[in-house]
Amino acid sequence: MSILETIRNRRSIREFQARPIPEEAIANLIDALIWAPSAGNLQSRKFYFVFNKKIKEELARAANEQNFVAQAPLIVVGCSDDRIEQRYYERGKKLYSICDVAMSIQNLMLLASDLNLGTVPVGAFDEARVSKILNVPKNLHPILIVPVGYPAEKPEAPSRVSPAEALEIIL
Ligand SMILES: Cc1cc2nc3c(=O)[nH]c(=O)nc-3n(C[C@H](O)[C@H](O)[C@H](O)COP(=O)(O)O)c2cc1C
Repeated sequence: MSILETIRNRRSIREFQARPIPEEAIANLIDALIWAPSAGNLQSRKFYFVFNKKIKEELARAANEQNFVAQAPLIVVGCSDDRIEQRYYERGKKLYSICDVAMSIQNLMLLASDLNLGTVPVGAFDEARVSKILNVPKNLHPILIVPVGYPAEKPEAPSRVSPAEALEIIL
């Protein structure tokens, strides 16, 4: 598939099959995370890969009871790393490290889609609770929770704004 086709075909998936994800696909998803760009190439991010059923259920509860989160065989939790502050100060901490995580997660979601795996970025969760569940050190902050698994639904594409609404073109 072309990259644009992959981008257009990716959908947020909220129903998953129990079927496990092959090891090779997991290795490739990790590669996709790691090879995303990052501010100053500091890679101010860390990812938790959660396969444990009990911990997945706790994460789903911390994500406002979005129970589909625990249905997926794998949950990836992307965290920003405050240590970027040493080079990029407040802007690094408040913005760059979050962009770093988002870029990795987008890479992961696009590759997952290409491998016929479903994902959804979940931002609605209690950060302190997620940090506690995963025993996350103080310098890391959970930014997105991403369940990953084979889809059990095929949602219609939600609409997008027109290019005219999305852009200001400056000539
Ligand atoms: C930052 C962010 C946070 C999101 N949080 C949630 C969430 O908590 N729960 C959820 O079901 N979807 C969440 N989504 C997914 C969006 O609802 C979804 O991307 C949007 O409706 C467009 O659908 P599509 O991804 O299929 O194109 C989030 C997406 C982003 C980018």
